[in-house]
Amino acid sequence: MVRNGMRSKTGRIFLSPPWMGGEERKRVAEAFDSNYIAPCGPMVERFEREMAARTGFPDACAVSSGTGALDLLFDLLGIGPGDTVCCSDLTFISSIGPAFHRGATPVFIDSDRGSWNLDPAQLARAIDRERPKAVVAVDLYGQCCDYDRIGVICDRSGIPLIIDAAEALGARYRGRSAGQAGWAAVFSFNGNKIITTSGGGMVVSRDAACVRAARKLSQQAREPVSWYEHERVGYNYRMSNITAGIGVGQLACLDTILTRKRAIFEAYRARLDGVARITFMPEAAYGTPTRWLTVIRIAPTARDRRTADPAKPGPHILRAIQALEAADIESRPVWKPMHLQPVFAQAAYYAGRRSVSEDLFRNGLCLPSGCGLTRRQIDRICSILLRSLEG
Ligand SMILES: Cc1ncc(COP(=O)(O)O)c(C=O)c1O
Repeated sequence: MVRNGMRSKTGRIFLSPPWMGGEERKRVAEAFDSNYIAPCGPMVERFEREMAARTGFPDACAVSSGTGALDLLFDLLGIGPGDTVCCSDLTFISSIGPAFHRGATPVFIDSDRGSWNLDPAQLARAIDRERPKAVVAVDLYGQCCDYDRIGVICDRSGIPLIIDAAEALGARYRGRSAGQAGWAAVFSFNGNKIITTSGGGMVVSRDAACVRAARKLSQQAREPVSWYEHERVGYNYRMSNITAGIGVGQLACLDTILTRKRAIFEAYRARLDGVARITFMPEAAYGTPTRWLTVIRIAPTARDRRTADPAKPGPHILRAIQALEAADIESRPVWKPMHLQPVFAQAAYYAGRRSVSEDLFRNGLCLPSGCGLTRRQIDRICSILLRSLEG
């Protein structure tokens, strides 16, 4: 049975609620029956095997969050005080947060207008000047960044590239799966992601040794002997065997989820395409995004521009969010760029003459994109949105 989770009694429409295919309960019950009610067990191993097979990696390590997955990779790279890490500017704070906690200095890279993802030209400039110890390139809203161009830039300087594919499971880049670039990649299974384990993440890499090392670190870095032996201190980041059951069930319906996400995007496009002020997040020619979220840019009016507060989304975006909220519909602005975050006020930022990420923050809107959305709900969302633009 298909369930569109996180439905409120009042019929609230959420931005990206979980979508269950039906196998999840069975797999969770199996996990219970095995009595591995623990952060290890056969369901964790199965989820890892099936994720690795689905994404084309030799191995995968399941952990408790995407943030934890990134933290493990930063640890494996020895990121610490005095190091610089280059990161996409337009992202969620987790892309850089664990490196910051380790004392690294973040450097942010603007987006490319054609994909909204990391701009390779700005990255090249930043690498020349900053000599970073690592690069984190984000696959924004379910679209891969330009793996080949970014990969070449990192390779020629010998800098490890981490792909933050938290939002992009199922996306393709020139026929490859999301994450298939650089040294290693992470996925997230947070409640709002393409598939969820309620909370969870995955480390993947073409370098099987990297995944093995991440797995060991995620389990307190215990040495493989019968007593407790530690050559270094690790973490308790392993995924629970119970939540891995949700993951195995979710993976079985990934293709259905991807089809539905695409259909939702197409429905919005059919309804909003001719509206002069609205454009959709562009699709780069190199791949197929998942449309994890349908995201639009709404051109500001002259008045919106005049009254805008640069630290906030534009007044037209705030009006749209408010109008939708009044109808119990959740929407969100595009990520606030990292270089505009008060906590990163001192960080270097590489952009052209006009910051793309600032423009997208001020004028971007993430529309409800849950797999259970009906055509009727999409119509209603669009009507409210368009009315808010008239005001
Ligand atoms: C781009 C990006 N990176 C990392 C994360 C962190 O993942 P998690 O919430 O599983 O820690 C998220 C979302 O949550 C994300 O959107």
